[in-house]
Amino acid sequence: MEKSSGKKNTAVLISGRGSNLRSLIKYSKTKKSLIKIVLVISDNISAKGLNYANKSNINNIVIKYSDRKSFEDRLLKLLKINNVDLICLAGFMKILSGKLIKKFNNTILNIHPSLLPKYKGLNTHKRAIHNKDKFSGATVHIVNDKLDSGKIILQKKVKILKSDNEKSLGKKVLKIEHEIYPKAIIRLLTSC
Ligand code: GAR
Repeated sequence: MEKSSGKKNTAVLISGRGSNLRSLIKYSKTKKSLIKIVLVISDNISAKGLNYANKSNINNIVIKYSDRKSFEDRLLKLLKINNVDLICLAGFMKILSGKLIKKFNNTILNIHPSLLPKYKGLNTHKRAIHNKDKFSGATVHIVNDKLDSGKIILQKKVKILKSDNEKSLGKKVLKIEHEIYPKAIIRLLTSC
């Protein structure tokens, strides 16, 4: 924990594009931010999101994912060295072990592109359109040991229009993801 400001030392885990990371960095730079991003971890050396960390001089490290145990051993060490209090999964596409999740009890958040509990897992927009749903949305939830099933912190809906396809829906949902992730962090950190 960064003692002087009382901000939560935060690690963001990514696997790709990193637009949610970008929105979290933007929030972390606001005056009233409750977090300081001290570490960005990617399991993918080509993740575009690493550029956002670099641009903002945030310590970023790629951990090659050969197997879960060696990935998590290294991850745990880095989280400890950096005194991380809060972990934000932001398009991180690997599943963390129950053991690691337990160690960070209730302090790992994930953002998911659907109105959970609907459409856990992958291809959320495709499934929502296929099922002719009227709404989709995004959810920020606490990570527990079941996929996309932890306590919901914040959720926001978007309307699915008849003209929407997977791509256009994905774009709309992503826009609200960027809006709700910082808000969910504030809600989590001010509710305890
Ligand atoms: C986001 O839509 C996020 O909700 C999703 O991956 C995308 C990452 O985009 N995450 C999951 O599907 C996790 N199950 P980003 O890299 O631009 O933030």
